[in-house]
Amino acid sequence: MSGRVEGKRVLITGAARGMGRSHAVRLAQEGADVILVDICESLPEIEYPLATADELKETAELVEKAGRRAVTHVVDVRDERALTAAVDDGVGQLGGLDAAVANAGVLTGGTWETTTSQQWRTVVDVNLIGTWNTCRAAIPHLVDRGGSLVNISSAAGIKGSPLHTPYTASKAGVVGLSRALANELAAMSIRVNTVHPTGVPTGMQPASLHQLLHDTRSDLGPVFQNALPIVMAEAVDISNAVLFLISDEARYVTGLEFKVDAGVTIR
Ligand SMILES: NC(=O)c1ccc[n+]([C@@H]2O[C@H](COP(=O)([O-])OP(=O)(O)OC[C@H]3O[C@@H](n4cnc5c(N)ncnc54)[C@H](O)[C@@H]3O)[C@@H](O)[C@H]2O)c1
Repeated sequence: MSGRVEGKRVLITGAARGMGRSHAVRLAQEGADVILVDICESLPEIEYPLATADELKETAELVEKAGRRAVTHVVDVRDERALTAAVDDGVGQLGGLDAAVANAGVLTGGTWETTTSQQWRTVVDVNLIGTWNTCRAAIPHLVDRGGSLVNISSAAGIKGSPLHTPYTASKAGVVGLSRALANELAAMSIRVNTVHPTGVPTGMQPASLHQLLHDTRSDLGPVFQNALPIVMAEAVDISNAVLFLISDEARYVTGLEFKVDAGVTIR
C-alpha cells in the first residue's frame, strides 16, 4: 500500500525529541525518507535542557524501524553555513528534497520586568532566523520541481500569549516570513504554510513560566485554556497536520495558518 507521502524526502529540524521526532516517525510511516537535524546540546540562556545526540540517534532508529531512511546531522539552526552543508549532504544521500519542516524552537519565561535582551536575541535567533535559515537551505533543492515548506509557529503567535513575549513575537514573525515566502515562491510551485499548536507535553518546559502562572500571574491562566475540553494536545495531532501539508492532498494549500490548537485562539 502506498503512503500519503510515499517517496518524498523531508528535512526536519529539532528532530531529536518531542514534536520533531513525532513528525519524523509519522512521515516515515507514510513513506517519507528524512534528514534529521538537531543541536543536541543545551544553551545557557534556556533554562530546560535541550536534546542529546542519543535522542537524535533514537529518532533515526524509529524512522528505520518504520522502513525508511534517515540521515542525521548535529547542527545549530542559527549556523546558516553549517545548516546548508548538512542539508546539501542529506539531499545528496537521499537523492533530492521535497519538503522541509522548520520545527526547532526554544522558549523562555518572564514578565516585562525580568525578560532580558539576551533572551530576546536567543529566542529570535533560533525560532525566527533559524526558520529562515532552514527555508534558505531547502529552497535551492525545491525550485526546479516545487515542494512544501512547513514552518512551526504556535497558538501564541496568533493569540499574543503573555509571559514569554520574545517567543510570541518570534512565532508571529514566523507567520510574516512564511506569508512573504509563500507569495515569492508560488510561481515555483513551492507552498509555504505555518502550523500553530496549542500546548503539547514535550521537553519544552521552562519552570519560570509555570511558576509565574501558578504564583504571581495566575490571573493570566485563562489565556492558555483551550476551548475543547483537553488540557493539552498530543504530538501526533500536530504531526498529522504537518503530514497533510507535505502531502499532495494539500497541493493547492499555501499561505495557510493551520491551527491545531483545540480552540485556544478563539477564546
Ligand atoms: N510544546 C508545546 O507546547 C508547543 C506549542 C506550540 C508550538 N511549539 C513549537 O513546536 C516546536 C517543537 O517543540 P517541542 O515542544 O517538541 O519542544 P522540544 O524542546 O522538546 O523540542 C525542540 C527541539 O529543537 C531542538 N533545538 C533547539 N534549539 C535548536 C537549535 N538552535 N538548532 C537545532 N535544534 C534546536 C532541541 O534540541 C529539541 O530537540 C517548537 O518550534 C515549539 O516552539 C511547541
